[in-house]
Amino acid sequence: MTEEGPVLVVFGAAGQLGRALAEAGPPPGWRLVQFDRDGADITDRHEVERALAGMEAGVVVNAAAFTAVDRAEAEPDAAFAINRDGAGIVATVAAASGLSLIQLSTDYVFDGRKAAPYGEGDPTNPLSVYGASKLAGEDAVRAATERHLILRTAWVFSPFGSNFVRTMVHLARVARDNYGGRSATIRMTGMRHRRVAPIPLSQASIAQQ
Ligand SMILES: NC(=O)c1ccc[n+]([C@@H]2O[C@H](COP(=O)([O-])OP(=O)(O)OC[C@H]3O[C@@H](n4cnc5c(N)ncnc54)[C@H](OP(=O)(O)O)[C@@H]3O)[C@@H](O)[C@H]2O)c1
Repeated sequence: MTEEGPVLVVFGAAGQLGRALAEAGPPPGWRLVQFDRDGADITDRHEVERALAGMEAGVVVNAAAFTAVDRAEAEPDAAFAINRDGAGIVATVAAASGLSLIQLSTDYVFDGRKAAPYGEGDPTNPLSVYGASKLAGEDAVRAATERHLILRTAWVFSPFGSNFVRTMVHLARVARDNYGGRSATIRMTGMRHRRVAPIPLSQASIAQQ
């Protein structure tokens, strides 16, 4: 333990979780040290080593990640470089410094076919590049250090950045700002008072050709 007490180190400090950790502040007696991507790129071992130099007691939170789920499909190399290799680098350097690690992971490591809540012993089966890269990151952390905790979270939201709650609020605002009259297609076509038998989709597409 250093003279100043144990340290809570956060990588990915500019993200949703990183900013929330900064707002919450460190536990009493702890120092909070934060690195955004400019401060320490977790894919660069030297930057991570420099960031953790001299820290001998405490916990590292790896909140840095490639979190753009759809974009990961088009950029798998970038997703794996950050979510797998970067996590492995943070875990390796933290272990060498005697620091414990909290690694953030995701429910995307599962395939979502289970009807009940998932447990930590359930088999993983990621269906996306993002999920596969985060699962590979978990494996890299497990291989690097025993002193780790992996948290599989889901639908993280906050007042910061991009998340589903902010998206829904934005969409609700857009909807509230729009005024107009409804236009039922069934009325526009004059079929309102007629009983119309539904056409199977296969026939409908043939009819359009
Ligand atoms: N958001 C969710 O719904 C959700 C759900 C389940 C699990 N999680 C996990 O929870 C953790 C935190 O999520 P979050 O919502 O706080 O993510 P976030 O808001 O997207 O923040 C991630 C942060 O990581 C930074 N980063 C990316 N690549 C980096 C690199 N190479 N080196 C250093 N920093 C880098 C990003 O910086 P830039 O902005 O510069 O890219 C960003 O500030 C992640 O591990 C994520 O996988 C999130």
